[in-house]
Amino acid sequence: MQRLLTGLQPSGALHIGNYFGVLKPFVEMYEKYESHLMVADYHALTTLKEPEGLRKNIADVVRDYLAVGIDPKKATIFQQSQVPQHTELTWIFNTLVTMSFLELAHAYKDKEARGLETNVGLFDYPVLMASDILLYDTDVVPVGQDQRQHVEYAREIAAKFNNQYGATFKEPKAQILESVAVVPGTDGKKMSKSYGNTIPLFGTKDEITKAVMGIVTDSKAESPENVYAIHALFKRRDELSELYKTNKGKYKVLKEALIEDIEAVIGPMRERRANISDAEVQKILKEGSEKAREKAEAKMRDVRKKVGVALS
Ligand code: ADP
Ligand code: TRP
Repeated sequence: MQRLLTGLQPSGALHIGNYFGVLKPFVEMYEKYESHLMVADYHALTTLKEPEGLRKNIADVVRDYLAVGIDPKKATIFQQSQVPQHTELTWIFNTLVTMSFLELAHAYKDKEARGLETNVGLFDYPVLMASDILLYDTDVVPVGQDQRQHVEYAREIAAKFNNQYGATFKEPKAQILESVAVVPGTDGKKMSKSYGNTIPLFGTKDEITKAVMGIVTDSKAESPENVYAIHALFKRRDELSELYKTNKGKYKVLKEALIEDIEAVIGPMRERRANISDAEVQKILKEGSEKAREKAEAKMRDVRKKVGVALS
C-alpha cells in the first residue's frame, strides 16, 4: 500500500478554502493509502506565541479532522511535537541544505515582504516539512496549491541526502486537486485567514451569514461572479446555472440560497464536531503519536547510521 501524509497547522479556525483545498480531497482518498495525518504544532510555533491558544488549537484541529469524516482507525492522526524524530531529522537536513536554497522559498519571502518577524524557524520551515514527509517514506502529499513548493523542497532534500549518503528516502509527489486548487475568498482573491476574506468552516449560521452577505459583488454585472465561484463548491453546475438564470441581478436571493447550501453541507459536520470530548481527542493523539514514533524511530536508526553518529 502506498503511503500518504498531510498536515495542518493548528493556527486558528479553518475556513472553507482549507476544507475544499485539503480536507475534502483527503477524506475522499485516505482509505486507499496507509495514511498519516499530522497536527503541525512546531510549524505553528513559528508564528503563534500564545501557549493557551496553541493548546486549544491543537485539540481543535483533531476535532476538525474527525468532524469532516476521518476515521482515526483508518488513519494515524498524530502530533508533530510528540514525535521528536521530526526535529532531529531537521537538524541533519540543515547540515545539507544551503542558505541560498531556502532563500528561494515563497512562504518565507512573502512573510518577509509583509514585514513580519522572520525567525530562524520560519526560514527553516520547509526543512521541517521535508522531515515530516520523508520520515514516513511518503508517496503522496495532498496539499493546496500554495504548498506545492514545499513538497518540491522535500523531493530535492531527499535527493540530496540520497546522493550524499546512499539511497535512504523516497521522493514524494504533491497531489493537488486542480478543480478546487484555489478557493476564492469573499473578495475574489485567494481565501486566506491572513486576508480576512474567509467563510469559516465551523462558524455558527450567523457567522456564515455575515461572511456570505459580505461577498463583494459588482453592481453592474448580471451574475455576481464571487458568489457564484463559492457557490460552485457546494452545488452542481447545472443546478447553479438554472438558479442564477432565474435570479439574474437578485444578489440577495442568490446569497441567501448560498447560505442554505453551505448550511446543508456544514450543519451535520458542525453537530458531529460539538460531540467530540477532550478525552477522545487526547486518546486519539496519544495513540496516533505512539504509532508514528515507532515508524519514525525505525527510519532514524538507519539515518543515524548513514550519517555516522550511531557508533554501531
Ligand atoms: P491560510 O492561507 O488561510 O493561512 P493555511 O496556509 O493554513 O491557510 O493552509 C492550510 C492548508 O489549506 C494548505 O494546505 C493550503 O494549501 C490549503 N488552503 C488554504 N487556503 C486555501 C484556498 N483558498 N484554496 C485551497 N486551499 C487552501
Ligand atoms: N505547511 C503546511 C501548511 O501550512 C502544513 C504542513 C506541515 C504539512 N507539515 C506538512 C502539509 C507535511 C503536508 C505535509 O498547510
